[in-house]
Formats: sequence, C-alpha cells, structure tokens
Amino acid sequence: KADALVLFMPSGRRGRFPIGTPVLDAARQLGVYVESVCGGRGICGRCQVSVAEGVFAKHQITSSADHLTARSQTEERYARLRGLAADRRLSCSALITGDLVIDVPVEAQTNRALVRKRAEARPIERDPAMRLCYVEVDEPDMEQPLGDADRLVRALEAQWGFAGASIDFPLLARVQDCLRRGGWKVTVAVHTHTRPTVVAIWPGFRDTMYGIAVDIGSTTIACHLCDMLTGRTVASAGTANPQIRFGEDLMSRVSYLMMNPDGLPALTAAVRGAIEGLIDKVTGDVGADRADVLEAVFVGNPIMHHLFLGIDPRELGGAPFALAVSGALTFPARDIGLGINPGGRVYTLPCIAGHVGADAAGATLAEGPHRGEEITLLVDVGTNAEIVLGNRDRILAASSPTGPAFEGAEISCGQRAAPGAIERVRIDPQTLEPRIRVIGIDAWSDEAEFAERIDQVGVTGICGSGIIEAIAEMYLSGIITSEGVIDGALAARSERIVATGRTFAYVLWRGTHELKVTQNDVRAIQLAKAALYAGVKLLMDKLGIAAVDRIKLAGAFGSFIDPKYAMVLGLIPDCDLARVVAVGNAAGTGARMCLINKGYRAEVEKLVARIEKIETALEPRFQEHFVNAMALPNKVDAFPRLSE
Ligand code: FES
Repeated sequence: KADALVLFMPSGRRGRFPIGTPVLDAARQLGVYVESVCGGRGICGRCQVSVAEGVFAKHQITSSADHLTARSQTEERYARLRGLAADRRLSCSALITGDLVIDVPVEAQTNRALVRKRAEARPIERDPAMRLCYVEVDEPDMEQPLGDADRLVRALEAQWGFAGASIDFPLLARVQDCLRRGGWKVTVAVHTHTRPTVVAIWPGFRDTMYGIAVDIGSTTIACHLCDMLTGRTVASAGTANPQIRFGEDLMSRVSYLMMNPDGLPALTAAVRGAIEGLIDKVTGDVGADRADVLEAVFVGNPIMHHLFLGIDPRELGGAPFALAVSGALTFPARDIGLGINPGGRVYTLPCIAGHVGADAAGATLAEGPHRGEEITLLVDVGTNAEIVLGNRDRILAASSPTGPAFEGAEISCGQRAAPGAIERVRIDPQTLEPRIRVIGIDAWSDEAEFAERIDQVGVTGICGSGIIEAIAEMYLSGIITSEGVIDGALAARSERIVATGRTFAYVLWRGTHELKVTQNDVRAIQLAKAALYAGVKLLMDKLGIAAVDRIKLAGAFGSFIDPKYAMVLGLIPDCDLARVVAVGNAAGTGARMCLINKGYRAEVEKLVARIEKIETALEPRFQEHFVNAMALPNKVDAFPRLSE
C-alpha cells in the first residue's frame, strides 16, 4: 500500500504513513504532541497545524499543502463558526495524500524582558502533564448497573486511550450532576503523571485551561500564567517576598523560626499569601477564573522550597544541611490549600543539595550545560551564589556564601536597584572625577538631561551593579591597589579621596548629601567576590580544567552587571567576553518548561540525580582559593582576555 513520508517540525521526528492517515494520528504515533480537546471531533480547533511548502533536500521531501486532502466539511464548519487561517488545517480532519513537512505551533520564549544580551530564543515544545478531554458518555440503563463514574472512565478509555484511569476521590460527588447537566457530554481534566487521574470535571464542552509557573526567591516572587492549550505565557507578575519582615536574608528567617513557636506557620502563610495575591493578579489580568488553573510548578532555593511546603527548614541552617525532601514532588493543590482548582496538581522541581535548590535545578534545565560539549559555568547570584559547572559528560554544583553585598546590602550607601540608585560608574584615570548613571535618569551625569531630571529622581544610593562598577573603576584608575586598599596618598591629588577615620573613602556623588565608597565597602565586595570565585575555582579543580568555554549569569544581578567589570574584579574566571551572557530569570524559565512539557520534568529529575554536589565548606582548598581571590582581580590567576 502506498505511503508518504511526514516530517514534523520543530521536533524533527518523521515517519512513513499510509495514504489516508489523519495528520493527528501520524503525530501521535511519532510521539509529537499536538493539542486536542475534542478528541478529533472538529469542535475544539486546538489541533491546528500548517504545511511548510517546498523542497527539503536534506530530508528528501517535497512538501506541499496539496499533499493533504481538501478541507473536509468538518473543517469548513469550524472555519465558518470560529475562523481558520488560510494556511491552517485541523490535523484531526486533514488526511495525508503525499510527502509533507508539518509545522506544529510552539511557544516562542518571549518572556525574557530582563535579558540585556538576548539569549537565543528557544521554543518550548508542548507536552503537558494535564490534558483537557471532551468525553461523550453512554446514558445509564437498567440492564447495565455500572455507575456513572465508571461509565465515564470507560468512555475516557475508549475515546482517549487512557487505560486504567481513576477519578480523584473528592470529584466523585460531582460526576452525576455534571453528566446530567451536560447531556452526557462532559469535559474532564486528566492528570497523566504515572496513572491517569480525572482531577476536574465540567458539563459540556470546555476549552480553557491555565497553568502557573512560580519562582519563589528570598527577595522577590515571580508568577507566570500560561495558557496550557497554546503554551503561551499570557500574564506575569512579581512581588516582594513578605517574609522579609521576618528577616532580610535566609538565615535570619531560619533563626526567627527557631526562636518563635509560631514562626513556621507565619513564614509559610506569608509566602503562600503572596503567591495567592499573584494568582489573583495574573488571572485577573486576562479575566480567567482561578478554577481554570489546573497546574502549578514551583522553584525556589531549599529554604523557600521548604517554607512554601510548610516544612521546617531548620536542618538546613547547619551541617550536614539535610533537606527534608530533595526529590521532585507532585500532589493535589488542595493539600496545601493553594487557590487554584482544588483538583489541580502542584509540581515542585527537585533540590540539588542543602544549599543548591530547585531554582538552580530549573536554571540548569533552562540553560542546558548538560546538553552540550562546551564547559559551561552557570552562576546565579543572590545572597548565596549557586554555581553549576560542566557539560554533557559531567556536571557539578556548589553554593558559595557571598552574602548580600552584591545586592547592595552591607554597603554603606547601598540600596536595592530602584529609581535613584547609581547603576553605572566611570572614573577618569587622570582627574579621578566620576561620571555616573542613575536608575530613572536616562543620561550620564555630565549630560544636560541628567541635570534636568535629577531634582525629580534624586540620587539616593548605589545598587549592586553600581558598586561593582565603582570598585572596578576605582581599581582601574589606581584609586585602589590590587590588595583592595584605597590609596590615601591620592588625597593630595584629588578632593574626591577623603579620610574617614584611619582609612579613606572615594566620594562618588556630591549633592545635598555625599555618597561615598568606603574602605569597608571595598572589603565587603572583596569578601563576596572571593567567596564566589573560590567556589567556581573549586568546581574547576574537581573537573580538572583551567578555563571555561562559556559563562551564563542568571538572575536579576546577572542581567544588570557588566561582564567586563565582573572580570576586572575577578568575580568570574577569565573567559572570552563575547561568551559571557546574562540569561535572566533562568530558574523561572525552567519552571515554565516543566509546566508546558512533562518531558522536562523527567529530564530535570534525571539531571539532578547525576549532578555531583560539592560542599564548599568541607573542601580544604576553598580557603586557599578564597585568600587568592581577595586580591583584585586575583593573586595567582591571570585574566589574559581582559587585555585583549
Ligand atoms: Fe479538536 Fe481537531 S482535535 S478540532
């Protein structure tokens, strides 16, 4: 019997199929995910694909839209009622008549607003764990005493091929009513993790389903709402983590909890409350109902992960940093009272180690050092730096106690990145005079526009990227020595250098008040950067390498820091600057990937199991690397690429 070669893009899967096979069936057989809610009845229109026209020499395929049967009556009806673009076909209706290259719509990753140097947008192919299925159920009759729920399960098996499905217990009470209201036609949400389970039910046909991906940071929490039937991110929102009132950094929150009997419930309620607010916001933005949110994926560092789940994280406060649970978790939303559909499912990514959390797992999944040959260094800097290093053969992870200096905390005039904060600094090596740029004023301080805007915005402090640039520029202009000492002898040459007690400071801004970089500030950054570098170096030792091929800086810090200055200070090892990129909220991207495609859950779980965890505190060489890294840029390591 004649057959045709069909190639699906972007997955690249292909196979030969008998003439007359529906495109949807061909996709199913090759394991290519094409959405379908109505089960091929031509009602939902979710199964749309298009044909790529032309000769694909590499695959020896000449593809043409004519290699499909003409639009069927079902498609014509759908096009009339709901509209169908000229180049789109319903894959459940269109039959294969010749060789084809089929384009399956995928989500293009657009949510990378934070990324300055845009990483290549990688489409996320869909294969969600939660499926929306329209089912027509036989009416009961006296001859067959089978229960309504049992007949629903049977219909689901016959029409959708879900063998051995079950119904979530709390749903049983609603089945009869829904079946009767829907005229024996219902839409169910089926969670396909391990055994298929019906977790929600609506009378009649329904094609709305959302999912959320949440990154719980110790400082900020970000939530993305995805349309689960297209994979698109339709709304995003962020908020400050309200746990900050119990302690600025993670360890102070753990001590709060150890000293207060109601500490754990209070911290858990705070983070969950913030997440509820974000769910309200994102669903409200698109006019969606919370009950239409059927899946939620979470990432966070180990302490946030535990607190969100209501688990006491005190064991993470000291060696051996034992996690209560490290593996990925899947459970009903109602178990933690999460305000989505009560039958909706929660998935949390696995934690790598006591200090390296599900956020690092998500970032690693998103950036994929484990997929390539190149040795990639992935760094996510917060109060702890989470460091992942390796390639497809071997991959290591560690965390390093950088403290909050990189976020502007512990710096005398430090502040969070907000309007009024100095974010860019240049110092003239001859005159030692600075030029600055301030968030909220789109100009350098020697430009006319700066003078116009300064009264409205003000100069209030210096943020993390600003302090890095200030200290790097001070070093480049000779104001600080390679030991990190502000050279007091320069006070004779410039009135920017001023004595403060027994040490000196550099005056960065003189307005109604002075903003100075003090000797203590330099020290705080030296300590933070030495911790980061020593952690990286330790992993390089373990891997037996002297240089890395590529560096990816994740998180807000990574997005705003200039890689050149990071290298001038020796925060990161020497590397071709063109290969140092900011990757934005990679942890959040990892969460979205797991939301949209269950294959990524399997990938991240396997990946985390093979990541080698290095406990920096226990490594004898850490101290040595740390001491060397206190110097600017480093006492022993060279940075040849900087002079290029
Ligand atoms: Fe619903 Fe094709 S699967 S229209």
